[in-house]
Amino acid sequence: MKVTKAVIPAAGLGTRVLPATKAMPKEMFPIVDKPAIQYIVEEAVRSGITDILIITNRGKGIIEDHFDRTPALEQRLLESGKNDVYEQLVDISKLANIYYIRQKETKGLGHAVNCARSFVGNEPFAVLYGDDVIIGEDPACGQLIRAYEKYGKAVVGIKAVPESEIFKYSSLKVEQLEENIFSCTDMVEKPKTKDAVLSLYSILGRCVLTPDIFDILDNTKPGAGGEIQLTDAMKTLAQTVGMTGVDYTGKRYDMGDKFGILQATVEIALQNPLLREPFAKYLKEIAQTL
Ligand code: UTP
Repeated sequence: MKVTKAVIPAAGLGTRVLPATKAMPKEMFPIVDKPAIQYIVEEAVRSGITDILIITNRGKGIIEDHFDRTPALEQRLLESGKNDVYEQLVDISKLANIYYIRQKETKGLGHAVNCARSFVGNEPFAVLYGDDVIIGEDPACGQLIRAYEKYGKAVVGIKAVPESEIFKYSSLKVEQLEENIFSCTDMVEKPKTKDAVLSLYSILGRCVLTPDIFDILDNTKPGAGGEIQLTDAMKTLAQTVGMTGVDYTGKRYDMGDKFGILQATVEIALQNPLLREPFAKYLKEIAQTL
């Protein structure tokens, strides 16, 4: 079955980047000239996704506004001859069919994904974490969808993380199938000891799930941090029917982390044709003073 639906959980509290997230969702932080979540929606669309459910929360209404039309502003742009910006704005509202649901209590990523049950129905679906922007020619979500189509199992997007940092992420038991494709038969969220580490591969930012995840989530108890962890539910899938891991190409930026936000801004600005030259010059000047 073709994967055409995606879920973007964007209901987290963003405590690592307070006070910026006190009134502004981290998913709306700008990277050069677009909010983070627009890069994510664009990646989903480039991957063949047509219908997207964004899981929101109180105070996240500006996400809905961003993907809506803005008649007064559009009229003003047309009147002042700014047709290119006008087109850009209208295109945002046409990217995909976007739906919203509120996660009424912030009980973790697994709980957020479980809010998508009726939207998803009986189909496989992609999950794009709302604070993970991935930039690359071949969209990461599409790479996972291709692996789903080839191996017929739920897929996790994986990356190797430094040994000193694996305790902050998940750790996966994997066996290589192809250059960047693995089978995954076990996983642990935030391993507490060195013995609990299964490998340095961790789930980062993307997965393609099958609808059987919902019954598993219904029975998943709060885990690390007292939250219902998506990893704990995926662990059941991995241990029973098995999952596929794709070490996707593309650079990931964690928009829930101060350093990640800075990296995204600098690197994406350097890819912008208009900014590249002046910004590189500026960075070189700054670098001389360090
Ligand atoms: P994170 O754990 O990175 O987000 O979740 P957080 O809880 O906002 O982070 P900190 O630790 O407080 O800074 C990954 C993704 O899952 C969403 C977040 O919005 C983020 O996009 N999420 C997390 C939810 O939608 N609901 C939740 O209950 C938790």
